[in-house]
Amino acid sequence: ATVHLKTVKQSDAKAELEAYIEEKKSEINPRYRLHYHVAPPVGWMNDPNGFSYYKGEYHLFYQFYPYESKWGPMHWGHVVSPNLVDWRPLPTALLPEEEMCFSGSAVVKDDTLVLMYTAHEITDVEPFFNETQYLAFSDDGVVFEKYEGNPVLPSAPNGNPDFRDPKVWKHGDHWYVVLGSKTDDERGRVLLYRSLDLISWEFLSVIGESTGEMGYMWECPDFFKLKGKHILLMSPQGMTPQGDRYKNTHQTGYIIGSFNYETFEFVPEVSFQEIDFGHDFYATQTTEEDGNRYLIAWFGMWDVPYPEDVDGWAGAMTIFRELDLVGNRILMKPVEAMTSLREETVWDGKLAENDVIQLDKTGELLVTGDLSQNIELEIKGSNGGGQVSLRWDPQVRKVVVDREGDVRQVEWLPLGSEVWRIFLDASSLELFCGEGEVVFSSRVYPDGGWQVVNLSPQALDVVAYKLRRSVP
Ligand code: FRU
Repeated sequence: ATVHLKTVKQSDAKAELEAYIEEKKSEINPRYRLHYHVAPPVGWMNDPNGFSYYKGEYHLFYQFYPYESKWGPMHWGHVVSPNLVDWRPLPTALLPEEEMCFSGSAVVKDDTLVLMYTAHEITDVEPFFNETQYLAFSDDGVVFEKYEGNPVLPSAPNGNPDFRDPKVWKHGDHWYVVLGSKTDDERGRVLLYRSLDLISWEFLSVIGESTGEMGYMWECPDFFKLKGKHILLMSPQGMTPQGDRYKNTHQTGYIIGSFNYETFEFVPEVSFQEIDFGHDFYATQTTEEDGNRYLIAWFGMWDVPYPEDVDGWAGAMTIFRELDLVGNRILMKPVEAMTSLREETVWDGKLAENDVIQLDKTGELLVTGDLSQNIELEIKGSNGGGQVSLRWDPQVRKVVVDREGDVRQVEWLPLGSEVWRIFLDASSLELFCGEGEVVFSSRVYPDGGWQVVNLSPQALDVVAYKLRRSVP
C-alpha cells in the first residue's frame, strides 16, 4: 500500500495560492473582463457550487482551476454578496489533495456552514476514477476544514463510479440529498438519500431516470418545491438535437411533478424542458431565501472555445435569476436588485429604422416593438466583432438569437409584458422576454464597446442604461 505523506499543510498551501492569485491578477488583459458577472480572478471557472445564505450574506462557490485558463484539478473558489449583485472575493475555500473537489452544495447546520461535495479520485484500474461524497465545515464562512471522517457517502447503490454533484436541503427533521449518476447500461439518473446528521446517509429512491433519450448521465441535479409543485432540475449529457432543441454540447432543464415525502416517489407531470435557450448555459444551482427561489448557472459550456483564455482567465456565471412557476413552465427573471446597477440613461424614446445606440462595455436595454411585425436588432462591437442578431418572426412566433450564424430559437407566447430586457456586458448577452417565459444566455466578444442597430421594418421603443461595475 502507498502511504501519502502530506508534506504541505493546507494552511500553507492556501497562503501560497492566494499570493499566486494576487500576482497573476495583474497580468490579465481586461478587454473581455465582465463588469457585473462573477468570473474567476485568474484561471478557469465552471459550475456554481454551494449557493447559500449564511450569517447575513449570500455565498457562492465555484469550480476553479487557478493555474491555467482551462479545466484542471478542481478547487472551490469563493465570493460573497449582500444582495446577489455586488460580489467580493474571499480566499479559495477548498484545495484538492488526494481528491479533486468537484461540484456540490452548502447548508447551514446549527451555526456552521457545511459544504457537501464530490471527491473525484484518480485510480489505477478501469475506469481510472472513483467518486464519493465529502463534507467540509466553516464557522466563519471564510476558512473551511475538510471532515476527517470523509467520505460520508462512499458509493452509489449500483457501484457506478459516476456519482456526483450532491445538492442538500432540509425538510422536517431530515437532511436530503440528490446526486447525479447512471444505470449499469449508461442511462442518466438522480438518486435520493436522507440523513439526520449529514454524516450517515440512507438511500431512498431513484427520483428520475433517462429512458435512453434523456442521455447517459445527469449532472448537477437540484430538487425543490415551487408554487406547490416539485421541480427536478438537472443537466443531462448525451441528448440528441431535435429541430430547434438541444443544440448545445449538453443541456440544462427541468421536469415538473409532484413528490411524496412518505413514499419518496417523484411523479412527473410535465416532461423535460430547457430552462435557458442560449449558447452558454449549464450546471445550474438554486437556493431559497425569504420565500424566493434564486438560480445561478455557469455562463459556459463544455468543449467550446473561450476567446478570453489567452487573457489569463476563462468562464463566468450568469446574472442571478428569480424563479416562478406559471402553468407548465418556469419563468426566469433577473433578480430585482439588478436595477441598482443602472447609471446614466443612454437612450429613452423611439429607435427608428437604422438608428444606432452607442454603449460602452455595459448596458441594459428595454425594447418594445409591435409583435405583429418583424423585429430585428443587430448588436455588435463598436470596432467590429461580437456580432449577434436578435429577431422576432411573427409568422412562426419565434425569438431568434443568431450569433454569427449559430442560431438558437424558440417559440414565445407572452403571458403579459411584451418587453425584451437585454443585458450586455463586456463579453456577454442575456435576453429575457416578457415575464421570463423565454431566456437566452450567450457569450459574445465585441471589440471595444457595443453598438445596437434597429434593423426592424418598424420603430421600437427603447430605454437603455449604462450599468455600473459590481464585481472586482
Ligand atoms: C458539470 C461537471 C460536474 C462535475 C464538475 C467537474 O459541469 O462535469 O458534474 O462535478 O463539472 O468540474
